[in-house]
Amino acid sequence: MIHIKNLSKVYKTKKGTVSGVDNVSLTINEGEIFGIVGYSGAGKSSLIRCMNLLEQPTSGEIEVNGLDLTKLSGEKLRKARLKMGMIFQHFHLISQKTVGENIAFALKAANTPGKRINERVEELLEMVSLSDKKDVFPAQLSGGQKQRVGIARALANNPSVLLCDEATSALDPNTTLSILRLLKKINREFNITIVLITHEMNVVKEICDRMAVMQDGKVVEHGEVYDIFSDPQTELTKEFITSVVSFDVPKPILDACTGRILKVLFRGDVAGEGVITDTVQQFNIKGNFLHGSIEYIQERPLGLFLMELKGTDDDIYQAISYMEKRGARVEVIENGI
Ligand SMILES: Nc1ncnc2c1ncn2[C@@H]1O[C@H](COP(=O)(O)OP(=O)(O)OP(=O)(O)O)[C@@H](O)[C@H]1O
Ligand SMILES: [Mg+2]
Repeated sequence: MIHIKNLSKVYKTKKGTVSGVDNVSLTINEGEIFGIVGYSGAGKSSLIRCMNLLEQPTSGEIEVNGLDLTKLSGEKLRKARLKMGMIFQHFHLISQKTVGENIAFALKAANTPGKRINERVEELLEMVSLSDKKDVFPAQLSGGQKQRVGIARALANNPSVLLCDEATSALDPNTTLSILRLLKKINREFNITIVLITHEMNVVKEICDRMAVMQDGKVVEHGEVYDIFSDPQTELTKEFITSVVSFDVPKPILDACTGRILKVLFRGDVAGEGVITDTVQQFNIKGNFLHGSIEYIQERPLGLFLMELKGTDDDIYQAISYMEKRGARVEVIENGI
C-alpha cells in the first residue's frame, strides 16, 4: 500500500548539501505496523516526512493507495495527505486551544460539516479514553494524555495511514506501553497501516510486524521483526537487538569455565530447555547453564541460552549436531561473549 521507490532527499544548506535519505526502496503492506529504527541522524524523520510530502523528496516515488504523491499537487495532494495522519515526539498541540478545539481544527481543515464536528470530536475522545478532557488546555495534561490527543487529532479524518515519529520517546515506560497498546488497538480495529519510527527496540518488539534498520540515509536491513530478532544480518542490527536480547555474565564466571561455551538459540515452537535436557542425557557430556531467556516477539517464543558443555571434543561435536537437528542454532564462543 506504500511503495517507496529509489527515494532520496538531499538538503541544501549554507555549508553545502546534506543527504537525509539515500536511494531507499521499501514496501509497507496494508494493515501492518512497520517499525523504522536507526541512530540519530540515520534519516528516519526525513524518510517518514517524505512519505506524506511534509518534506519534498529530491528524487524517487512514493505511492500510497495507488497514487504517486510526488506527481500530485494542489487539491489532489491535499486530499491524499488528509488520509495520512501523523503524530510527533513533542505532540505539536496548539496550546491556546482546548483539547476538543485541537481535534476540531483537523476536522475543519478537511471541510467537515459544522454539525458533524462536535459529534466526531466526542467519538475520537472516547476512542483515546479522554472524554472528560474535552474542555481543558494541553498544559493541563500529562505527556501520555497529550499524545492521546495527538492520536485523536491524527485519526480525525479517518486516515488509512498513521505516521509516528518517535511518538513515545518523551514518555516513561508505563505510559509508552499504554500508548503502544492504543496504537495496536487502532491498527487492529480500523485496519490503519502504522509506520513507526523509534530508536528503542523494545517498542519494535512490542507492536511491530515488520521493520527496517536505517544508517546514513539507507535501509541496511528489513524484514519480519521475528526474523530480524532471531537472525540479524548486519552488525548495526545486532547492536540494536542487544538492547532486548543479550547476555551479561560476569567475567570471573566465564573465566572459571573449563568447558566449551555455547550460545544456543531456539526459534518458534521448539522447546529449548527440553532439547538441552535430552542432549545432556544422551551424550557423555555435562552441561551448565550460564544464562537463559525466552523473549516473546509477535507472540512467538525466541529462546536464547548460554551454556558450558564439558566432555571430549567428539562428544561435544555430536551434542551440537544433535541440538541442530532438533532445530537449535548453536554458536561456539571462543573468546568470551
Ligand atoms: N531541514 C534540514 N536541513 C538540513 N539537513 C537536515 C534537515 N533535516 C535533516 N537533516 C539532515 O539529514 C540527516 C538525517 O536527519 P533525520 O532528522 O532524518 O535523522 P533521524 O534519523 O530522524 O535522527 P533523530 O533520531 O535524531 O531524530 C542528518 O544528517 C540531518 O542533519
Ligand atoms: Mg528524527
